[in-house]
Amino acid sequence: MSGGRGELEGRVAVVTGAAGGMGGAITQAFLAAGCRVVATDLKPEPLPEAGGALSRLSHDASSESDWRIVVAEAVGRFGRIDILVNNAAYFEPASFVDTSAADMDAHYRVNQRGVLIGMQAVLPAMRSAGRGTIVNICSVAALSGSTGAFAYMSTKWAIRGMSRAAARELAPLGIRVNAIMPGLIDTAMMACNPPERNAGIIGAIPAGRAGRSEEVAEAALYLASDRSAYLTGSEIVVDGGLSA
Ligand SMILES: NC(=O)c1ccc[n+]([C@@H]2O[C@H](COP(=O)([O-])OP(=O)(O)OC[C@H]3O[C@@H](n4cnc5c(N)ncnc54)[C@H](O)[C@@H]3O)[C@@H](O)[C@H]2O)c1
Repeated sequence: MSGGRGELEGRVAVVTGAAGGMGGAITQAFLAAGCRVVATDLKPEPLPEAGGALSRLSHDASSESDWRIVVAEAVGRFGRIDILVNNAAYFEPASFVDTSAADMDAHYRVNQRGVLIGMQAVLPAMRSAGRGTIVNICSVAALSGSTGAFAYMSTKWAIRGMSRAAARELAPLGIRVNAIMPGLIDTAMMACNPPERNAGIIGAIPAGRAGRSEEVAEAALYLASDRSAYLTGSEIVVDGGLSA
């Protein structure tokens, strides 16, 4: 079975961090597949217009009260939640010796705690529907012990573990939980790295270039759709061979 333009017809998705590179591309890919999308971000202004199929919300992914508003918007306006993409993330790269406890807390709050409360927020809607698919945007940073982004990397390892554990617990409810492990992707976040760090990573990528957000969105579309019906607790690596 292959994907088609209408493969998410009738579905409703929540995508966080949707004003950013990957979140924007995932939102566009879902809309093009016929999905209705609640697209959220700390700063939702740059999100594209898409008529009645798109709702834009200002949302701090680390806030429980904000998540209640997001769920109320999705269910109130579109009637259901079938898909959650936990994509928003905090990224302030620093080495182990330069990482303070406050840095750790800031990363933990959005990247780890935010993914937990996001998955819990959509659970009642998915549970009552008897189906759902959650896609957590993780990182190849959670495949090895990389240097230069200690706190960030630790939260991505946590997302990997949370995704697998939630997948086991939620499978009997018909809810799938999978992760995407992007390599270096050309977004505003990549621009937070020192240029020499990016140059070093690109030099190590067998494909010879950074990835594009649209290439990650393809994996999200697959995990959101019924084409991946038997995938749960799995990880799709989108990295041009970096971790191969
Ligand atoms: N770019 C890369 O090389 C790369 C590699 C691996 C993984 N990732 C992951 O991909 C995902 C998307 O990153 P991107 O590269 O598109 O970055 P990006 O900076 O383009 O987008 C991230 C978005 O998240 C939003 N955000 C930050 N904190 C938030 C919060 N508390 N609540 C809601 N929104 C918040 C930002 O406003 C921004 O729009 C992230 O989870 C990131 O960790 C990125």
